[in-house]
Formats: sequence, structure tokens, C-alpha cells
Amino acid sequence: MAGDPLMPLVGRITDYLRDAAPAALRARLEAAGPRDIPDPDYPYATGMDRAEYDARMDQLQLQLVRMMHDVIETGKRVVVVFEGRDAAGKGGTIDRVRDNLNPRSAYVVALPKPTEREAGQWYFQRYAERLPAQGEIALFDRSWYNRGVVEHVFGFVDAARRAAFFRQLPGFEQMLVDDGIILVKLWLNVGRAEQLRRFLDREADPLKQWKLSGIDVDGLAKWDDYSTAIRDTLQRSHSPLVPWTVIRSDDKRRARIAAIQTILTAVDYAGKDRDAIGAIDPAIAGGPELLR
Ligand code: ADP
Ligand code: AMP
Ligand code: MLT
Repeated sequence: MAGDPLMPLVGRITDYLRDAAPAALRARLEAAGPRDIPDPDYPYATGMDRAEYDARMDQLQLQLVRMMHDVIETGKRVVVVFEGRDAAGKGGTIDRVRDNLNPRSAYVVALPKPTEREAGQWYFQRYAERLPAQGEIALFDRSWYNRGVVEHVFGFVDAARRAAFFRQLPGFEQMLVDDGIILVKLWLNVGRAEQLRRFLDREADPLKQWKLSGIDVDGLAKWDDYSTAIRDTLQRSHSPLVPWTVIRSDDKRRARIAAIQTILTAVDYAGKDRDAIGAIDPAIAGGPELLR
């Protein structure tokens, strides 16, 4: 498919792997079998067994439906922020959250880069416009945190505007919580080798090639800049009122389970069954200390 004028980025990941990737990263990918987690720091050697995943997920889906009923009945407002590097698994996790929910109540906010008009507004404005009304669950696929991480790493924001973002951020989130919005912030953390593997899959699969962006390709060489920006951003935005949950997402199944458990734990709802939710695996989900 390389050379397809509709997909000019196809081939760029393979090029990176061959020409520019650190040798250790390449070696790690080559050594990993299809079910292996390539990152040696990941707490499990292989992905979760499908039967176990399906059984756990079925229970969690039922809890999500109960949660939605309660949100609608009692007029709650819920915001879940899904953040993480490219290919961390935000989109797939959001799909699993929505599987059995009413799309009128649980909707996705996935904003493109700001238009010229939006760029001339208060930075938080276009996000504020998408906040939920009573009975709604807003699932943010990326969020206002773009300014802390990707915009900074790519130089789309200057230092003064980024500093203004960090000044306004605590006040913005405190207003949401103070007004009664339930705010859940999930940071999906993917290792470098697993990210590269997902990009290679994306490149090879005609159904997934559309997901490959210039940011993904150019971001490959900016792994360390991302790490710095992510660490900074989480440190400045993690507090008891608006905590982050970091989820190790190299294994998508474990990550999706932990993400849904975290959401269910954050919302009180009629019919909540703590045994069905189960214990959140502390090796998979926790505070910013889980970032490597
Ligand atoms: P995604 O990972 O959501 O598929 P990309 O990898 O293309 O999308 O981009 C990552 C994020 O960077 C997106 O939220 C996108 O809107 C944002 N972005 C891309 N270009 C710009 C820009 N010029 N200014 C601000 N944000 C941008
Ligand atoms: P700063 O907060 O501006 O001091 O930058 C922190 C880190 O982000 C630096 O170590 C840079 O490597 C990276 N960085 C800052 N600005 C840019 C940019 N425009 N493009 C790429 N990387 C950047
Ligand atoms: C993800 O996998 O994290 C999201 O679907 C977005 C992406 O990386 O393009």
C-alpha cells in the first residue's frame, strides 16, 4: 500500500523501524511473540485470557447500564476524560464503555484541532460547550489536556499560553466539580514498543490506516519530549479533588477492565454491586506513580 496517494503516511512507520528506531526497541519488538507484552516493566508477560476477559466484561457492562439508568433518573452529570499517547487505546476503551449505553445519554467528544475562530477564544471554551447536562455522560477522547502535552511537544502553543493553561486548569476543574459534575480523569499509559507495534498494525491494516496521522509519525522521534510533558502535566493536575488514574494499557483487555472499574467506582448509583465491579488491579491502575 505504500505510495497510495490517499494514504501517504503508510510506509513511514516501517521506515522508522528500519532506519531510526533505537536498536534496543527494535530488538524488543522482534523478540516479542504475538501474545507477549513487549515492555519488560509491564507486570504481566502476556495479555489477559479471552475467557476471563469476556466474563469480567459481561459483569461490568451490566453495571454500566445500571449506572446509566441512575444518571438519567437522578439527573447526574458525568465527564470522563480519556487521555494518553497516540495509540494508547483511548478510542477502543471508549467503544467498550458505550457498547450497551444509550448514545443520547453517553456521547463522545473528539474535537479536531481548533479552528481559527476557536483559536481566538478562551482555550477552555469549546470544551465547556460540550459539558454534559443532567442525565448525560460525556466521554472525552482527548481533552483540554492537549495544551499540556501534544501542543507543547509539537510547538503548537507557546510557553506563555501553556503557562496560562496551567494557571487556569485547577480553577476550571474545580468549578466543574463544585457545580456537581462527576469528573473522572483516565491516563492510558502505553509502552514504547507496544505503541510501535500498534502503529505497525495500523499501517498494515486497510481498515485502520485512516487512524495513522502525521502527529503519530512525527511523534515517534519525540518519545522523550512526550515523557517530560506528560510528567509535568500530571504533576500539575493531580490533586485529591481531581485525581488522575493512570492505567497501564499495554494489554488492552486489562486496561479496558480497569478503566470501566474506575468509572463505576467514581459514580454512586442504585444497584451498585461491588462484587461485580471487583477489585481494581493495583499493578494496572493507580496514581501518577505508575508512569514510567
Ligand atoms: P488522534 O490521535 O486524536 O487521532 P492526531 O494524532 O492527528 O489525532 O492528533 C493528536 C491531537 O493533536 C489531536 O487532538 C489534534 O486535534 C491535535 N492537533 C493536531 N494538530 C494541531 C494543531 N495544529 N494545533 C493544535 N492541536 C493540534
Ligand atoms: P519547556 O517547558 O519549554 O522548557 O520544554 C520542555 C521540553 O519540551 C524540552 O526539553 C523540549 O525538548 C520540549 N519542547 C519544548 N518546546 C518544544 C517544541 N516546540 N517542539 C518540540 N519539543 C519541544
Ligand atoms: C488511541 O488509540 O489512543 C486512540 O484511538 C487515538 C489515536 O492514537 O489515534
